[in-house]
Amino acid sequence: MSKGKKQTKRYDHLTEMARLTRLMKEMYERGQSEVCEVRNSEIHGRGVYATQDIENETQIIEYIGEYIDKDESEKRAWDQAAVAEETGDAAVYIFTLDKKWDIDGNVPWNDARLINHSCDPNCEAWIEEDQIFIYALRDIKKGEELTFDYGFDIECYEDHPCRCGSENCVGYIVSREQWPELKKRLAEKKASA
Ligand SMILES: C[S@@+](CC[C@H](N)C(=O)[O-])C[C@H]1O[C@@H](n2cnc3c(N)ncnc32)[C@H](O)[C@@H]1O
Ligand SMILES: [Zn+2]
Repeated sequence: MSKGKKQTKRYDHLTEMARLTRLMKEMYERGQSEVCEVRNSEIHGRGVYATQDIENETQIIEYIGEYIDKDESEKRAWDQAAVAEETGDAAVYIFTLDKKWDIDGNVPWNDARLINHSCDPNCEAWIEEDQIFIYALRDIKKGEELTFDYGFDIECYEDHPCRCGSENCVGYIVSREQWPELKKRLAEKKASA
């Protein structure tokens, strides 16, 4: 190969590297927000905290990640369940987007993946076209931990004990609609103990 051809190949490679670096920077910036930051949480591991007062209905941060189809999503859910069985803890990062697609938010530049669950949440996740955003459900004070309702199904509720610390905590991470059923099951368990 002549020297000239070698040089062109080298510059092609650098152009591609530059394009990928710009993309990564863009993704990184999309996954951050100036109104919140990641800190150690009293609820679990790391959490996300308001860095300033946030008004009700404010769009706080985008939940970004990898678009995956339902087959891949199911495979990853099984992998997470296997980790949970081994370690007793496994973070779930997969969000349902629509009938065909989910978003796996388990990428380091997605700060929103670290938002913990609460039985009395101050945020809510909204799907807008093919994106997911976290919005304030009420006025939030600077320094408050951001939380939303994970909406987990009641099946396997014992795998997801809740430590949100709110006054109305039901003890497990279970979607609000299933609280009556959860309370029934917990009462039956207590009665038969
Ligand atoms: C998506 S991660 C949230 C970030 C997590 N705190 C971390 O440091 O990786 C979800 C996991 O955090 C934990 N978690 C979130 N909210 C919780 C809560 N209210 N009570 C107990 N554990 C919680 C559970 O292990 C859950 O599977
Ligand atoms: Zn709770």
